[in-house]
This record gives sequence, structure tokens and C-alpha cells, in this order.
Amino acid sequence: MKVFVTQALPGGGLDRLAAEHDVEVWPQPAPVPREELLSRAPRLDGLLSMLTDHVDAELIAAAPRLRAISNYAVGVDNVDLDAAAARGIPVGNTPDVLTDSTADLAVALMLAAARRVVEGDAFVRRGEWQTWEPELLLGWDLHGATVGIVGFGRIGRVVARRLEGFDCEILHTGRSGGLALRELLERSDFVTLHTPLTPETRGLIGGEELGRMKPHAYLVNTARGPVVDTAALVDALHAREIAGAALDVTDPEPLPGDHPLLGAPNLTVLPHLGSATYATRERMADVAVDNLLAGLAGGPMPNEVTRPGP
Ligand code: DGY
Repeated sequence: MKVFVTQALPGGGLDRLAAEHDVEVWPQPAPVPREELLSRAPRLDGLLSMLTDHVDAELIAAAPRLRAISNYAVGVDNVDLDAAAARGIPVGNTPDVLTDSTADLAVALMLAAARRVVEGDAFVRRGEWQTWEPELLLGWDLHGATVGIVGFGRIGRVVARRLEGFDCEILHTGRSGGLALRELLERSDFVTLHTPLTPETRGLIGGEELGRMKPHAYLVNTARGPVVDTAALVDALHAREIAGAALDVTDPEPLPGDHPLLGAPNLTVLPHLGSATYATRERMADVAVDNLLAGLAGGPMPNEVTRPGP
């Protein structure tokens, strides 16, 4: 069957796919242009998509032969699950294998922001460091802090486990109980986001929520950029309503070089690296390939997405 993979993937997973199907991999590092994806759609039986591809109703309608979609991510906000379900097309994702790496990065961002790691590095490189000083680049401790975890699913729970080693007090929201968001925001020294992007979580952290945070608190986002209202965050950082933000994901993504967020103080920002380790990205490729192989064979995928309930 004809399969399109929209980016080259690390590891040997794609060889297993190519052993069974007619596989074409988009050869460039940048995402496939929309028109290109649409023009290929009519010939496709299987699609292995990236989170940068909009697998929406238009694309699905343009692919009458499509029988399986495998998304190389745990998040599936780039896929129109209803449109796929209406056609009976299974959609797979890559949970579990990236949980630990993403949790690691969330903790790294907490430390980087509160201990001013990026700022300190830049300060030394600019040649500005003259001498050790008692009050040079003071920050806030993660150890012993109260950390509010918004979204207590797989990744949020592992972040909590990591932070046991830092003697943190853990607060959390989540479907399975926990605090109201408002109380969590008011009590936390660090607020870290681990929700999927859904209509309910889009813009979850806006001006009002940022205003509830402590002035010395940090916001960390390794989930999805649009969970935070970017304009409100820019305002809150400029007004020093919070101590800082550390973002692995942004809205928009990628951020243009002249975006106002980049001019905001106390911001640490990364290019969506949560799962970006050699081992994790290889495991994600294996899971994505397993999903696609199963879907093309007409069976259930090992990780088939079921639409989150209301
Ligand atoms: C995901 O899987 O959703 C991450 O954002 C990228 O690995």
C-alpha cells in the first residue's frame, strides 16, 4: 500500500514499514507544504504525520483511499479526530515512550528559569562577569517549593515523582480529582502545564489566571502553546506579575524572530524539545510504525486514539 511519511525519522522503524509497503518519506527537514500534502492525498493508503501537519477534514476528504493515520506525537490536536472517525479511519499516537523525557525537560525548565541558567551563561559569554558577588543573579529554589501540576495524566504524574527528590509540595488539577485551578495558581511557586490541547484547555492560562499566580512564581509549559494566551503572558511578564516563564511550546510555533514574546523579560524558550532525545525519538518512530502497520492491516492499532470525553 502507498504510505507517505512527512518527515524522516530516527532509528530503524521506517525500514520495517518499507519492508511491507510502498513508502515515500518527505526528503526535506521543513514540513511538507500544504499544497504538496493535498496533491499527494488522493494516492495515499497510509499517512505517518508530524504534529506540524494539519490532518484536517479537507485533507482527509482529499484522501479517499486513506485507511490509517499515525501521528508521530502523543498530542493529536493537529488531527481532526471527528473527520477521521466519520470515515472509520483509525488514528494512532505515541504515548508512554516520551513521558519520562518530557517530564525531565519540564524539571530542567523549572531549574533553568528559577536559577537563571540561560541568563548566567549569556552574562559570562558577553564578558560581563567581573567577580563573584553575594547578590549576583539571585534566583529561587526549586527544592522545597510548592509545584502546581495542571493536568495530572502520564507526564504530570512523572513530574510529581521527579520532584519528590526535590522535597517539593505537589498540588495538581486533573480529571481524577485535585484542586481547582484557581487555588492551585494562588498557592504554587511553579505552575507546570501537562494538559492535552482541546477546546476546553485552549487559552486555559490567560490574564486572569496569570494574575492569580504569586509574583515570584514561574510558569512552565511543555504541553501545547495555545494552552497559554500568549498576549496575556507577554503583558504579565512585562508587568512583572510573575517571576518568569519557561516554555518548550509556544503559540505560534515556531515563533517569528520579531515576536513580542521574545522581547518579554524573564523568558526561557525552547523549540519544542520535550521528547527530543535519541532514544525517545527512536521509540516514538517504532510506536508510530507499529500503529500504521496494524491500521493498514485492518486491525486495531497498539496505540489508537479514542476521542477524549467531554
Ligand atoms: C508530543 O508527542 O505531543 C510532543 O509534543 C512531541 O513529542
